[in-house]
Formats: sequence, structure tokens, C-alpha cells
Amino acid sequence: MGEIGKIVQAPEELAAPVNVPAEAYISPEYAKAERDKLWRKVWLQAGRMEDIPEPGNYITYEIMDDSVIIVRSSPTEIRAFHNVCPHRGRKLIDTPAGQRNARGSRMSFICGYHGWTFDLEGTNTYIEHQDDWQGHLCGGLADLGKVNVDTWGGWLWINLDPDCGPLAEYLDPAAKMLDPYGLQNMRARWRKWIVFECNWKVAMEAFCETYHVSTTHPEFMEFGQFRGWARNQGLHSNIGYEAPKGQEEDSGKLRLGAGEDPRLTTADMQNFTWENANTNTTRTLVDVANRLKDELPEGTPPAEVSAYWITTAKKEDAERGVVWAQVDPQHTAQAGTAWQIFPNFQIGHAVNNMLCYQARPYGTDPDKCIFEAAVYELWPEGEAPQTEWEYTQPHEWPPVLQQDFNNMAAVQQGMKNAGYRGAQPNPYMERSVASLHMNLAKFMGTGAPKTY
Ligand code: FES
Ligand SMILES: [Fe+2]
Repeated sequence: MGEIGKIVQAPEELAAPVNVPAEAYISPEYAKAERDKLWRKVWLQAGRMEDIPEPGNYITYEIMDDSVIIVRSSPTEIRAFHNVCPHRGRKLIDTPAGQRNARGSRMSFICGYHGWTFDLEGTNTYIEHQDDWQGHLCGGLADLGKVNVDTWGGWLWINLDPDCGPLAEYLDPAAKMLDPYGLQNMRARWRKWIVFECNWKVAMEAFCETYHVSTTHPEFMEFGQFRGWARNQGLHSNIGYEAPKGQEEDSGKLRLGAGEDPRLTTADMQNFTWENANTNTTRTLVDVANRLKDELPEGTPPAEVSAYWITTAKKEDAERGVVWAQVDPQHTAQAGTAWQIFPNFQIGHAVNNMLCYQARPYGTDPDKCIFEAAVYELWPEGEAPQTEWEYTQPHEWPPVLQQDFNNMAAVQQGMKNAGYRGAQPNPYMERSVASLHMNLAKFMGTGAPKTY
């Protein structure tokens, strides 16, 4: 338990109140500078491994001016390349209009301008009239430029910095804390994207704290609210709940509804969550919750209701070939309910499902971003649905997420107000906001949170 002991120290970091200047959210100069100082320096989550299961399968990933091709070059290898032809700079693979990214399968990439051709290792295999260059196109000058790529958690990660450190080091301690959840075994139930009228940080920060829940999502108060915390974790941060004594398992995402009869309130909370958020639970959990009133006597103590609900759902899932990760309650209490992976990715983990958010700039406009959310769960072998990134309008999202979306443009506008004095995040519940800006400032050289 030495490792976990180390993480317990983290809550003391950033415990003092801070003020976060508005610059990082609203300044056009800051937004432009992010390209070189931030996006071209960090590891970025660029897709899922199941997006490219077979050799020749590829996807693209776009971040400001950069586009990257990620391709499975063999059954066991993945490569990434700058999506630009070394001849005269045509983008090699176009993203079809209205699509989030390009996606397909081919054994070679042929530039549509003059026909230069590249294999899955990025090596040039064809140049028309090559002799005209008099032998000078050697030493890789005619090959695609390589981008660092690695995998963790079932995701493809890229880094545009040729001198970057290893992904495993970058993700520490998040990867170590999330490994027991087997996130690589989960497949999408749905994935949607949308363009918001706010900075990407405003969008991400709508989900990195639980302080907003009682006001933005008042319906959830009926089911009882545990006190939420946020911890700094080096480059990253995490959030979670303090569970009542004897209900330590409930410190994760699978928790009881509070109230007179936990059999009924758990069912109510599960039904509400399934219908209005379509996240953070699964059909099996909802179905078992709805049977609690028939299968358990009135007056069953909350800890027993919780244990029965979870073990029954777990058993029924196992019978259909869906095997939940085994994570002990002490680990759950430390891992919490979600991790903010610096700078723009959030993983809301559980033993049988996860909810992930990410946001990217929309060009250099500080007032716009591309926002994406995906819900994943475990499926019986071969039964995961084929999902695509679906472009959406706000009304096409579950109602609970629309409540979050409602704040975003209004925050962006408010931050530009002459009278705005900078953000004052809750030092206990919203420490992830302070963490993000403390770490951003290390890359950007400006915008560090100020202590009082
Ligand atoms: S720009 Fe690609 S072949 Fe000419
Ligand atoms: Fe919310």
C-alpha cells in the first residue's frame, strides 16, 4: 500500500484559496500561444484502439493547425504521422465535411495532388519523375514526418513534441490509479460532439467539480448528496465523494440513493440517471435496482442494500459474459469518481462503465471550442455496438448534460465583463480548477493562480 500512501499526501496541495485570472479563458494572444506552448508539447488522447482494429485502419486527429494520421501498421504496431505531404504540403487525408475526423482503411496513402505515395510506415514508395530531383530526395526527405504515439487505457495518445518524455511518466499517477478498472476493455455506448461558444477550459471545468451539482442539477439533491472533494495529482487532478461510514464502496460512482427506504430511492436515482443522463450506470444496474423492493425486506440497512444491489448486478453481468473489474473499496476511495488528465481530457471511471469528456480549441478563437463526450461500458464478447462520433446540437443531449451546457456560454461572456475579478474556486471541492491553471502556467509562462 506504499504507493497509495503516497497519494494520500496529495490533498494538502493547493489547499489554500486562489484567484485564477481570466486571461487563460478570454485572451486571443493566449489562445494563439497555446498552439506552440501547450498543444505541441503535451500527450493528447486522440482516439480509441478499437477505432483501428486491423492493419491499414487509420483515423486522423486535429488540434488547431495540426493534423495527425494514426494508423495500425501491423497487428501489433501503431504509427502516427503528420498529416501533410512532404512534396508541396497538401494535407494528405481530408476530413469529410461535417465529420469529426477522417477514418478508413488502406495499405498506402496516395497524395491527391501529384500522387506521391507512402506505405504504413510512412516511407515513400512512389514519386513520379523522381530522377528530376537528381538524387536529393534521400534521408527521409520524401517520407512522412513521424509523430510520437503510444497507448494506455485503450486510448491512442499522440505527442507532437519530438523530444517528449514517455507517456507512462506523463500519465502518472492517473494511469496507475485507473489501471485496476480495466478501461481498455470498455467500448462506447454513445459518443457525441458539439461546438460551444466558450473556451475549452470553461467546457472542461463544467465537469471537474461537484460543487455545481446542487444548483445546476437540483433534481439530484432528492437522492442525497455526499460531500465532494478534489485533489491535485501532479499534472492531473481527481474528484470523488466522501461515502458514509460502512458504505465505502459507495465512494465510487455506484452508490445508493439516500432517504427513508434505500431500496426505493436507489431505484429512483438509477431510473432518473439512466433516462436523464444516460451515463454513470448500466442497464443491468438499473434493472437490479428496480427489483430491490421485491427482493429485499423493508427496513434492510443501507449498507446491505448497497452490497446486494452491486453483487447481484455483478453476478448477472458475469452470467452474460460481462466481468466487472475487481477494485477494493480503499482503492476506490482514493481513485474517486473522475480524473482530469492534463490538459483537456476527463475520465469518469467505474468498474463497469465510464463517462469521458474532452474539449479542444476551435481554431484560435478563445470563445469557441469543440466538445466531445462518450459513454463506455463492458459488453459480452462481440456484442459492443458500432458507434460513430455524432455531430449534435444541445437539445440532442441528455437533459442533465444540457443543464451543464447552459452555463458555458454565460461563463465565457461573464469572464469578459470589465467587472470580473478572476475565478475564486472552492479550495476543497474545486481544487481541480486551481490544479489545471497551476499546470497550464508551467507551459504557458502566464496565468498562474494567485494566492490571497
Ligand atoms: S503535394 Fe503531395 S504529391 Fe504534390
Ligand atoms: Fe454537471
